[in-house]
Amino acid sequence: MEFSPHPIPIPYGRQSIDDSDIAAVVEALKSEFVAQGPRVDRFESALCEVTGARYAIAVSSGTAALHLSCLGLGVEEGDVGIVPAITFAATANCLRYVGASPRFCDVDAKSGIAGPREFQNCLESDPSVKVMLPVSYSGAVTDLAEIARLAKKSGSFVVEDAAHSLGAEYSGGCRSGSCEHSDAAILSFHPVKHICSGEGGAVLTNDKTLADRIRKLRSHGIERREAWLYNQTELGYHYRMTDLQAALGVSQLARLPSFLQRRRDLAVRYQTAFSEFPFSDRIRIASQDHLSARHLFVIHFSESEERDAAYRFFHEHNVKVQVHYMPVYRHSYYKEFVDAFLPGAESFYSTCLSLPLFPALKDEEQEYVIECLRRFLEK
Ligand SMILES: Cc1ncc(COP(=O)(O)O)c(C=O)c1O
Repeated sequence: MEFSPHPIPIPYGRQSIDDSDIAAVVEALKSEFVAQGPRVDRFESALCEVTGARYAIAVSSGTAALHLSCLGLGVEEGDVGIVPAITFAATANCLRYVGASPRFCDVDAKSGIAGPREFQNCLESDPSVKVMLPVSYSGAVTDLAEIARLAKKSGSFVVEDAAHSLGAEYSGGCRSGSCEHSDAAILSFHPVKHICSGEGGAVLTNDKTLADRIRKLRSHGIERREAWLYNQTELGYHYRMTDLQAALGVSQLARLPSFLQRRRDLAVRYQTAFSEFPFSDRIRIASQDHLSARHLFVIHFSESEERDAAYRFFHEHNVKVQVHYMPVYRHSYYKEFVDAFLPGAESFYSTCLSLPLFPALKDEEQEYVIECLRRFLEK
């Protein structure tokens, strides 16, 4: 039977903006402050409340947050940082910005996540590691407590890349971004993430000295003295967030519980539908518990050719599925940082496909995505 493309494109992720978000930005536009102002302070306090971290520093992107975390912790020229091979390039780029080098660790071939075992393997072969950057890939947080123990033994720092996991919990009620088991954590507010501020990000930490340093580095490395007097004590950046972005961030953060619920409900609907497929053995779903913030819904095919064909079939039908991610070391820029391809990361990458998952995804659209996969597998 004829199966037409969906009348409008269905992305894998997108923002969910409602009238309350628009009203918050309009109010900011009509106020005295459009660049950094009181709404940024309010957003930072709200982020502390939601994550449980003591300090939050809002910045222009998640990438800026990663860069400032490395700078603030004193990662520098010649240092080494451990980065999971399956992540967005920004997790490795922050090391290069400060003259350090990434050492890519492997991931679990089923979940795409690097846990303590993978970090430990990397540490054993390079004890000079200054920082480890566990990534809460797709919304699930790894065993950060164990990674923190490894860091303590080896004298390295931990920065949790929580760009995918705002609202997630892990082992015994810890919240992603709480920094209970890390020196710092970073968030991203890019439109596909849990909350959106246009572009934006934040560093979270429980360390006041680090928070103060990062605040200074966010704004040129300048310290305020009194009246007109200020002093630049080191080379910083202009990574500030605007009050327009923060207004949107505050409004979106108030909606986070409903965003998380919708993401989790959609994930359960996918799981239920796929378990009832007659050919369910041809796809595999990486299992995640209810604590995951469900940034991505990733399915696996038995081999890369089938995944590639499914990607084409979905796109021909206006469903914009995506691959998260090609191992970072495969980018030509990173060629010199890798000796050998990593088996877990290669296996994960060659078969994975991210299906649409975002709070504004309509039931009808999700049903179309499910039907699209059924038609592909029936071919
Ligand atoms: C895992 C991860 N880390 C860091 C970032 C960087 O965030 P941003 O796009 O806000 O700079 C992203 C963005 O996609 C990401 O997915």
